[in-house]
Amino acid sequence: MMAPASPRREILVSLLGLGVVGSGIASVLQSKKSLFASLVGCPLVLRRALVRDPGKPRLIPNSFITTNPEDILGDRATDIVVEVMGEEHPALEYVQQAISAEKHVVTANKEIMAKHGPDLLKLASQKEVQLLFEASVGAGIPIIAPLQRDLLGNNIASIRAIINGTTNYILTKMANEGQDFATALRQAQELGYAEANPANDVEGHDAAYKLAILATLAFRTKVYPSDIHCEGITRLAPKDFRYAQEFGYAIKLLAIGRKSNGAVQVTVYPALVPRDEIIAKVDGVFNAIEIKGDLSGPVLFHGMGAGSLPTTSAVLGDVISIARNIAAGARPAPWLGMDHGLNIKPVTQLQTRCYLRLLVADRPGVLAQIAHILGDRQISIASVIQKDADPKEGTAEIVIMTHPSLEAAIQDALVRLNELAVVKKVASFLRVEST
Ligand code: NAP
Ligand code: HSE
Repeated sequence: MMAPASPRREILVSLLGLGVVGSGIASVLQSKKSLFASLVGCPLVLRRALVRDPGKPRLIPNSFITTNPEDILGDRATDIVVEVMGEEHPALEYVQQAISAEKHVVTANKEIMAKHGPDLLKLASQKEVQLLFEASVGAGIPIIAPLQRDLLGNNIASIRAIINGTTNYILTKMANEGQDFATALRQAQELGYAEANPANDVEGHDAAYKLAILATLAFRTKVYPSDIHCEGITRLAPKDFRYAQEFGYAIKLLAIGRKSNGAVQVTVYPALVPRDEIIAKVDGVFNAIEIKGDLSGPVLFHGMGAGSLPTTSAVLGDVISIARNIAAGARPAPWLGMDHGLNIKPVTQLQTRCYLRLLVADRPGVLAQIAHILGDRQISIASVIQKDADPKEGTAEIVIMTHPSLEAAIQDALVRLNELAVVKKVASFLRVEST
């Protein structure tokens, strides 16, 4: 419960986790302590930090460090618990325990907020404590607070976002420098961008967690990761980057949420984006989130989507906001609720243009067979180009761009194309994003 307004001598912050993000928070709490004290009205003081391995060298004295979660969760003096451990368990249980013990919580954990956010927010509301999670999406980009405040008067029609720094870094390196996937991923890990299990980044799950959080807030309806059609970037080949560039596109891992006719469609997949669109120019670790409101029109949030200090910025914004409320004795506003109850539209109903790269036998009549399969399914061809032929193998590569077509029809066509004797392989299939 919020204490009645009484002067505070200090506000105590404990960290669950002292890795890339936790170390940034601990060090900035120290380096900016007089700024924070002036913002809050009393000092904001680090109390303890939970780690797994007590033997690792740390930036803060050992006296702050513990391996026993009870030293924080059962500590009556800690006002704000900051969860920066990552992964679902035991972070979820620790956050539940902290809220149940009437502590305010700040988390950067998109997995627990995506899977359990509505329940955790309800629990926090019941306990009259704050649970803030700005860093869970887009790291340094303010997006959670604007969705819960500045854009509240809008009916939000769509979210279109690049919300994984690791994959955007990898895609940029592959497109601009011809770097291979493994090297680019290793660099992203060294820079502190990747998740503990980087498969979560490259398979699109991290972006799906973030989209679930954004869609839940934007559409005021519960959207879970299991509702999201999710594809990662591991199947992209260097040739796709070359052809994309040649045709005037960039390849980006897009997280898209669209609302229409009482339903929302939520997808994460790599897509071709026209190079003249702003979102196509978002490179490296930068993220961008475009929200379309009926009043605001399109607004774009852009900034560093991963890394120690950008994430620290978002976490500390939440910590300072809570600390100011504690110091003022203010009660948290009631939770907005997510009761719009919209249906989830399956990906099979998506209308999309697509890019197909096929390895085929280089002989007459092949294109006609392919066109027949597409035409039978109402998939209209926008352009066809024959690329590299291999006379020794007797094969050629065909790249087809289609007009907007139904996803279900495209998937069916892909199965049939793969069965054609003249098609050696459907080497690539990517959706083409258009606004
Ligand atoms: P990290 O470098 O792997 O740090 C995790 C920290 O948590 C480490 O100090 C680790 O202890 C501790 N820890 C993990 N499991 C524990 C357990 N079971 N018991 C006790 N301590 C445990 O991760 P990070 O990059 O800082 O990310 C932390 C969170 O922030 C994640 O939810 C991540 O998704 C989110 N996030 C990260 C970024 C980013 O750019 N890195 C951006 C936005 C959000 P040891 O030090 O002993 O190993
Ligand atoms: N692994 C995440 C990313 C960290 O690369 O975007 C930020 O949430």
